[in-house]
Amino acid sequence: MLLNKKLFTGLDQGVHLSAGGEAPMLNSHRDAFEQFMHDKAQGERARQLIADTMQATREQCASLLSVSASDITFVSSASEGINIVAYGLDWQPGDNVVIADVEFGSGVFPWTLLKEKGVDVKIVRHKNWQISLDDIEAHIDERTKVVLMSHVSMFTGQRLPLKELAETVHRKGAALVLDATHAVGVVPVDAYHADVVVSSCYKWLLATHGTAIFYWNRKTLPELKPPFLGWNSAAASGGWKDPLNITLHNDANQFLPGNPSYLSIYILNNALKHLLPLGRDVVEQHALNLTGKLHEGLSQLDLNTLGLSLMTAEAAESRAGNICVMSERVDEISAQLRQRGILVWGTYGGDSRLRISAHVYNDHNDINACLEAFANLQ
Ligand SMILES: Cc1ncc(COP(=O)(O)O)c(C=O)c1O
Repeated sequence: MLLNKKLFTGLDQGVHLSAGGEAPMLNSHRDAFEQFMHDKAQGERARQLIADTMQATREQCASLLSVSASDITFVSSASEGINIVAYGLDWQPGDNVVIADVEFGSGVFPWTLLKEKGVDVKIVRHKNWQISLDDIEAHIDERTKVVLMSHVSMFTGQRLPLKELAETVHRKGAALVLDATHAVGVVPVDAYHADVVVSSCYKWLLATHGTAIFYWNRKTLPELKPPFLGWNSAAASGGWKDPLNITLHNDANQFLPGNPSYLSIYILNNALKHLLPLGRDVVEQHALNLTGKLHEGLSQLDLNTLGLSLMTAEAAESRAGNICVMSERVDEISAQLRQRGILVWGTYGGDSRLRISAHVYNDHNDINACLEAFANLQ
């Protein structure tokens, strides 16, 4: 393992293979909470202390995503980030958005609200649970404004090649909105390839709810405008003398109308102090080793007789931290695994698939225990 299980709360309760749903929290988040309480009590100075931590966290995220800190801000959820794009672009009747059939709900639902503006949603269908770049390209036409894809699928575990995906989308003149929730924190993400990147922080980033990363590529998508404004969107304003004189921040903070969830930003800051020193490539290799072993072990079992089939591809470049298994008996099987202390993600969401996730606190013993539990399923 890359981070000792003892650094986390709750990891002594079983084999935690659920980072793709909810990751456990670092014990030291308690210190981050204490720090926030301390800073918040400093009267007016509190705002500067809090702003400093927010800026430091933007810089950590920028380093993780290989982009500039000014292109990053924090929204309340990945879902909010996607809605910012849906409401921040100028849509015309006949425009369309391209998504995948295996996309997470928040990558699908926001675009349906654009129907009244005459915007169509085109759906790329998976083949054998894989989405191909050729099929994505075939769905893009001259009226495609946005292609939304998950970098790593929450449903199938497939990882799309980001650079090639971005080239495919840009070649056709569309913008790439990337949901990197299942990628950031476990595999390297060079966000600059995309036009917008969103990521939740409570899974692979080891932080918590209330803060998601929003990356805006100002150079490639300058036409994205903040759909809602507040005091915090402005770098300067005319005040009572000239209330309508507003100068927006010229960076991603213009998408932040009010105070974000500073407490969860402090927690993200602490999580990144643990993740960043490990190095993106080391974390990726660790996850690939574990998910590779899991894939191999599961392939050797007679899954069909249990009504199970592997969805995630074997090739390392096509997966990340999730191995997904289709099953019509998800509830029953996850209950059997839970009885053996193996925590996978299945029941919640009603998707008929089990997701087994390996992250920095997992090791080969965890994978062996999981494979043994699968071998003993009834
Ligand atoms: C691909 C993907 N995006 C986003 C989310 C969560 O988004 P939010 O931060 O809006 O809760 C999930 C949660 O499962 C997800 O799988």
